[in-house]
Amino acid sequence: MSALRESPAWRALAEHQPGVAQLHLRELFARDPDRARRFSAEAAGWRLDYSKHRITDETLERLFALARERGLEARRDAMFAGEKINTTEHRAVLHVALRAPADAVILVDGENVVPQVHAVLERMAACAEQIRAGAWLGYSGLPIRNIVNIGIGGSDLGPVMAYEALRHYSERGLRVRFVSNVDGTDFAETVRDLVPAETLFIVSSKTFTTLETMTNARTAREWLLAAAEDEQAVRRHFLAVSTNEAAVNAFGIPTEQMFGFWDWVGGRYSMDSAIGLSTMIAIGPQAFREMLAGFHAMDEHFRTAPLERNLPVIMGLLSVWYADFFGAGTVAVLPYEQYLKRFPAYLQQLTMESNGKHVTLAGEGVDYPTSPVFWGEPGTNGQHSFYQLIHQGTWLIPCDFIAFAQTLNPLGRHHDLLIANVIAQAEALARGKTLDEVLAEGAPPELAPHKVFEGNRPSSLLLAERLTPATLGALVALYEHSVFTQAAIWDINAFDQWGVELGKQLALRVAEEIRTTDAELAHDASTNAAIAWYREQRGR
Ligand code: F6P
Repeated sequence: MSALRESPAWRALAEHQPGVAQLHLRELFARDPDRARRFSAEAAGWRLDYSKHRITDETLERLFALARERGLEARRDAMFAGEKINTTEHRAVLHVALRAPADAVILVDGENVVPQVHAVLERMAACAEQIRAGAWLGYSGLPIRNIVNIGIGGSDLGPVMAYEALRHYSERGLRVRFVSNVDGTDFAETVRDLVPAETLFIVSSKTFTTLETMTNARTAREWLLAAAEDEQAVRRHFLAVSTNEAAVNAFGIPTEQMFGFWDWVGGRYSMDSAIGLSTMIAIGPQAFREMLAGFHAMDEHFRTAPLERNLPVIMGLLSVWYADFFGAGTVAVLPYEQYLKRFPAYLQQLTMESNGKHVTLAGEGVDYPTSPVFWGEPGTNGQHSFYQLIHQGTWLIPCDFIAFAQTLNPLGRHHDLLIANVIAQAEALARGKTLDEVLAEGAPPELAPHKVFEGNRPSSLLLAERLTPATLGALVALYEHSVFTQAAIWDINAFDQWGVELGKQLALRVAEEIRTTDAELAHDASTNAAIAWYREQRGR
């Protein structure tokens, strides 16, 4: 058995769980009128109400004991101190340095990295201002009007999510788009109505070797040159965001047009680095700095607040509680805010690429579930789609509801109705409806069982006053540190991603076999047949 499962705090939780599993949220609320207040905490503009979770005071005590026993605070401090906690890649993990104030000191190998961060931010700001002012001219002398970010994974999902989330604050005279998929349709449809002379590509890739991004970048260059008919045009129409200067230069983008970051920024933790250049161009440097300040406020909360009042710690521990003690394999993330429509997709990489791991830091197999699957859609759309399963299906699915007091688009009663729905859904999941209640409403007995809701389905309510760059930054940091908390409990490395490698390697081999149509195939029969089918179809 693993050290985690044998640990006293884990055992204490395992012993405690069957008793809690018997309790209904109705009962827990009835017993303690103060429960909502006591099980709520605030930080960085966010209020987390975790009272609708299947926990008691004792559960929390035992979860915090687990966190202490696993050394969460020491691990957190090691991250903030720039220690190389990404042990499989021998790297520090310092996304928190990306939003540290200019006078902070964070050392990596004896060097303070904060001045470098701010130097890049200043260069980004100058570039963004120039473009926003219409002073960045394309090859024909027309100002740039279209920004196309080319990237994938962390070099796409964060920028897309942030652009959509902060669209309200964006310069509407600019069109900002994103290409990620190696499927040529993504590029073709993205540029279909764009004029090359007014289009600037930002090639965003930490490594500058990613197959999808480099393929799209080359296609973008051909698309531009087909119109410009002059290699010199590339300089005016391409920027790069990367850690790989040599590859950027080899592509034809000069170092002055490259915005760097560092190996201590993981791809999925990079939306507030230069990878956020498209975001900064869209919303402006001031709003981007406000977003960084929101991130930093949550960082400081995570770093300094006692575990008992620490939002990311509480969220992370609840995730462990359901995944490991209730066998809940998924978490639904349900923003009641249209601007956050890409937030669940963004979170999928953050959570699952980080904590989808099967061995401990020491390389031993785990004997407990690690990251659940994160998924979701904005409310209220999800209500008319998959909520049926959350309410009456057989899986326990903890939900994160996210909502704002104020809308950015006041229109009649829309916002009141939106908020009424999120509050009502959380209540319905928790309370349910008993057979007696169904019958009392006059349901025919044969229909009654179908109308029963067991309830006791847990959810968090994450509430803020208004969606701003700062509240968005704080929300992302909240989930980042929740992921960190979970990884600390599970003793896994949240900062590598070896699991994406095998598919990449095999894709290169298959691509070569497709290209050289007569090469002998030595895969399993199914794979051989699929390649042969494609060769034949393609040949027609
Ligand atoms: O394949 C996974 C991954 O390495 C992610 O971790 C990363 O965000 C993405 O690919 C893109 O990588 P890059 O920014 O180097 O192109």
